[in-house]
Formats: sequence, structure tokens, C-alpha cells
Amino acid sequence: TRSFTILGLESSCDDTGAAVVRGVPGAATILSSVVEGQNSLHEAFGGVVPEIAARAHAERIDVVAEHALAKAGVRLTEIDAIAVTAGPGLIGGVMSGVMCAKGIAAGAGLPLVGVNHLAGHALTSRLTDGIGYPYLTLLVSGGHCQFILVRGCDRFDRLGGTIDDAPGEAFDKTARLLALPQPGGPSVEAEAARGDPARFRFPRPLLDREGCDMSFSGLKTAVLRMRDTVMEGNRLTARDRADLCAGFQAAAVDVLAEKTRRALALYLDDAPGDPVLSVAGGVAANRAVRAGLETVCDTLGVRFTAPPLSLCTDNGAMIAYAGLERFAAGRQDAMDLAARPRWPL
Ligand code: KG4
Ligand code: ZN
Repeated sequence: TRSFTILGLESSCDDTGAAVVRGVPGAATILSSVVEGQNSLHEAFGGVVPEIAARAHAERIDVVAEHALAKAGVRLTEIDAIAVTAGPGLIGGVMSGVMCAKGIAAGAGLPLVGVNHLAGHALTSRLTDGIGYPYLTLLVSGGHCQFILVRGCDRFDRLGGTIDDAPGEAFDKTARLLALPQPGGPSVEAEAARGDPARFRFPRPLLDREGCDMSFSGLKTAVLRMRDTVMEGNRLTARDRADLCAGFQAAAVDVLAEKTRRALALYLDDAPGDPVLSVAGGVAANRAVRAGLETVCDTLGVRFTAPPLSLCTDNGAMIAYAGLERFAAGRQDAMDLAARPRWPL
């Protein structure tokens, strides 16, 4: 197969990303990847404000794209196609990216490839490790939590997932309840490292239920309840805060690990010779989560792979790569490509 050079754009949540990826499916290299976060813009509001996010993406996406091309040392004339996240995500941000991609594609006469953000996350391990199909991915982020059997760049089977909140949302909410900085994942992880996971007993929802569906909204409520019990009459001490984080994180890890064991059992039923579990999404950056999943994989003889932290959270490289696979398979989109805020895999 011919090698392709793809410019990828990502703007579905609160990271403006652009990257240049070159190669063939299963063997591609990141020539550049630029991510501009928006934390400072949303900080005062305790969460991502869609209007502010959309405006910032619109202002920055073309600058970030130019930056990615310059860093890669690649001219637009050397690009084979423009890949862009077309959903799911916050509609304003997705539209900013799609419009920018259309502008570049029209101006330079290049093909346009719409990419599902979740496919970008799910295919990241093919970019970083070149793993072959089929493999199992646990996608865990601020908006998503699902087990996906990845059979091809356009072939995904959902084996199960959360029935309410995503774990990242629970991490973010926990941080908010304990007055820790956003995004909550990294701050809760840092607190948990200093805490005692056994002091507070958090629920492990749905563990008694068959299959690999999960629930995380009860965990959120449990943090609120336990915080209020501890706080009765007192201030929350640093110790309390760390112990609450440790207890919460341990429960989240237990649920993810046990449900992963069940999803792997389903996958291994008709497994290839070299079974692989990959993780993707922002929560996959969590070291305790990774360790929990790795242990499960070890006991089942499954290879475990996790992208580097910078490729777990939202970025343009995963979109460029997913676009590369689609483009190599002969898929591209017309100029009427629509932004789809909801778009299941
Ligand atoms: O994939 P991502 O960048 O955006 C989408 O949701 O698509 O994931 C962001 C989520 C946030 O909820 C953030 O708190 C969480 O990933 N996250 C973490 C960690 N780093 C980021 N959660 C737990 N531990 C972390 N170290
Ligand atoms: Zn994401």
C-alpha cells in the first residue's frame, strides 16, 4: 500500500488539536502533534462551558493546524487528505473543526475525511503499537465508557458500557465536591496516592450483575454523602480529602477491572492467537486504572497496551491516524460533511 500523509483536526471538547501523521494502516508515524488546552478558560466555571469552548476552537484551530504543519516540516501540498472529528461531542466545537477542515480542503483541493472521535480513541493503539485486528478496547473518558471489539477501521462491536455516567465525569465531580482543581482526574489521582483506600468503603455498583455493563453515578453520590458525614461540624482536612479520593479511586478501579475480566472472557471466546486489550480515553491516563487492568490481563494471558499519556487524552494525532485508515480503505466525505453531536460507533 501507498504511504499517506494526513493532517488531522480535533475540537470536540476542550482541547484544540492538530497533527500530521504519515504511513500505512498499522505502521504510521506522528510527524507532529499540537494540543492547546482550554483549562484556564473554563476554570472559573467548574467545568467546560460549551459556548466558550466553541469560540476558543474557532479562534485557534487554524493557528494550531498551521503550527502542526510547520512542526512536521510538511507543506500543505504534501498532504494527501484532511481528517477531522465530525462527532460525537459539543456541537459548537465540532462545527469549528469541520468548518476549518472544509476550508483547508477546498482551498488546497484536498480530500476530506470525517472521523468519529471514539474511533480515533479506539484506533490509537494501532498507531502507537501497530496491533492487529481484532482487539478489545476499553474506552474510558469524561464522556464515554465502553468495551469495544475493534474488527476494522469501520467495524466496531460494543460489548457493554456504562448505563449512566462515564468514570471521568465521576472523577471531575469528585474533584468539584472536594474543592480540587479541574480536570478532576489528575488531581484526584494525586490525592489518592497519599490516601488510605480502606478508610471509606465505597460501593462497587453492578458487580453482582452479569455482563460488562457498568454504573458510576452512585459512586459520585457516595462521595457527596461521605464528604458530608466527615464534614459534620468540622472542616475537611487534607487527610480526609486524600482518603476520600483513595477510596473513590479504588472502587472505580475495581469496577473497571472486574468488568474488563468479563469483557475479555467474551472476546476470548473467538480470540485470535495473540489477544490484546488496549485502553483509550482520558481516564486511561490514570496509573491505578492501568495497573488494575494490567493485572487482569496478566492472569488471563492477554497482552495489555496503553498509549502514552499524551495520546490518551484528546489530540489530533488519533484523528489523523483514524482518517489515514479510512482514506487508505477508499473512504472520504463530501463537502456537505455534517457535524454530529451524537454519533454512536
Ligand atoms: O478523552 P478525554 O480527553 O476527553 C473526552 O472525554 O473525550 O478525557 C477527559 C477525561 C476527564 O474527565 C478527565 O478528568 C479524565 O479524562 N482524566 C483522568 C485522568 N486524566 C484525565 N481521570 C482519571 N485519572 C487521570 N489521571
Ligand atoms: Zn476523547
